[in-house]
Amino acid sequence: MRHLITGGAGFIGTNYIRYILRMYPDDEIVCADKLTYAGNYDNLKEFEGEKRFAFEQIDICDRKAVYSLFKTYNIDCVVNFAAESHVDRSIENPEIFLQTNIIGTEVLLDAVNKYGIKRFHQISTDEVYGDLPLDRPDLKFEENWSIKTSSPYSASKASADLLCLAYFRTFGTPVTISRCSNNYGPYQFPEKLIPLMIEKAQRDESLPVYGDGKNIRDWLYVEDHCSAVDKIIRYGKVGEIYNIGGNNERANIDIVKIILEALGKPESLITYVKDRPGHDKRYAINSCKIQNELGWKPQTDFDVGMRQTIEWYKNNPKWIERILNGEYRKTRCSL
Ligand code: NAD
Ligand code: DAU
Repeated sequence: MRHLITGGAGFIGTNYIRYILRMYPDDEIVCADKLTYAGNYDNLKEFEGEKRFAFEQIDICDRKAVYSLFKTYNIDCVVNFAAESHVDRSIENPEIFLQTNIIGTEVLLDAVNKYGIKRFHQISTDEVYGDLPLDRPDLKFEENWSIKTSSPYSASKASADLLCLAYFRTFGTPVTISRCSNNYGPYQFPEKLIPLMIEKAQRDESLPVYGDGKNIRDWLYVEDHCSAVDKIIRYGKVGEIYNIGGNNERANIDIVKIILEALGKPESLITYVKDRPGHDKRYAINSCKIQNELGWKPQTDFDVGMRQTIEWYKNNPKWIERILNGEYRKTRCSL
C-alpha cells in the first residue's frame, strides 16, 4: 500500500510513519508537510535515501500542489494529520486554523474525488465533543454525541469532520474519521503540556499550570494512537467515526507532579497562572466501538509510557535545543 501522510513532520505523523514502515515492509510512504513552526524535518532526516519514503514540502491548502502530488504518486490511502493543533495559538490567531484545518481538508477531499483512491482518513480530536463536568465521572464522549466546540481550534476540526461526512454522503468519498484523546510520547513539540513541563523542569524554570490545575485529560501513548489508525484504515467501515482513548484520566497538576518526581525536581517550581479562556474542564473517551468492532486496545501502561517519554526527552537534548534556538527550521529537505 502507498500512504500519503500529511503533517508527517509533526508529533503524531512522525510516529505514525515510523509505525507503518516498521510494521509493513512492503508499504510506502509519501509525506507531505508545509513545515510550519510545528513541523520538524529533523524528525524525518533518518529516512533520506530510504526507497519506501518520499518527502514533499507542500501546503495542503495549495490545490495545484496537492493535485500534482496525487498525479505524481499512485496513492492508495491518505491519512490527514496536517493541522494547526495548539489550542492556545487558536485563541491568539484563529484564521490560520480555519485555513489549514478546514480549507486544507477540503482540498484533500477534492483531490481524493478527482484521483479516486481507496481511503481518506481524517485525524480528528475528542475536543469536537466539548467538555464534560468534573463531577460526572460516569460520562464519556460517544461517537453519536453532537458536536459542541469550545475553541477556534476545536471548531475548525469539527468543521473538517462535517466536510468529510458531507463528502461521504454527497460524493461517496471513502472517508473514515477518528477522534482521539490527548497523546503523549517522543517528538511532541514542547509547547504542549507534557514536553513543555519536562523541558522547563530540566532547566529549573517555573512550570505554568493554568487555573487550579484540576482540568482532566485522557492520556494515550502515541504509538497506541498509531495502531488504532492503522486498524481503521485497513478494517474500518467507510463513513464511520471511531473514538480512540486511553481510559486514563489525569488532572493536569498530577501530570506535572509525576514529571517533577521523575526528574527529581521540587514542587516549588509549579506556578499557577491565568487560566486558558474557555478552558475545557474534562475529556473522557468511550472507545468501545473500536475495541468491539476492530479489536483495538491501548497496549501501553501509563506509568511505562511516561517513563519512556521522560527518558526520550532526557536522551535527546539536541532535539529540544535545536527547537529552542530555531536551528530546526533551517533544515531543508534534500530529496
Ligand atoms: P503537530 O502540530 O505536532 O503537527 C502538525 C503538522 O502539520 C506539522 O508537521 C505541520 O508542519 C503540518 N502542517 C500544518 N499546517 C500545514 C499545511 N497547511 N499543509 C501541510 N502541512 C501542515 O500536531 P500533532 O499533535 O501531531 O497532531 C496531528 C493531528 O492529530 C492534528 O490533526 C490534531 O488535530 C490531531 N490530534 C492531536 C492530538 C494530540 O494530543 N496531539 C490528539 C488528538 C488529535
Ligand atoms: O484532546 C486532544 C487534544 O489534545 C488535541 O486535539 C490537541 O491538538 C492537543 O493540543 C491537545 O489539546 P489540549 O489543549 O488538551 O493540550 P495542551 O497540551 O495544550 O494542554 C493540556 C492541558 O494542560 C490543558 O488542560 C491545558 C493545560 N496546560 C497546558 C499548557 C501548554 C497548562 O496547564 N499549562 C500549559 O503551559
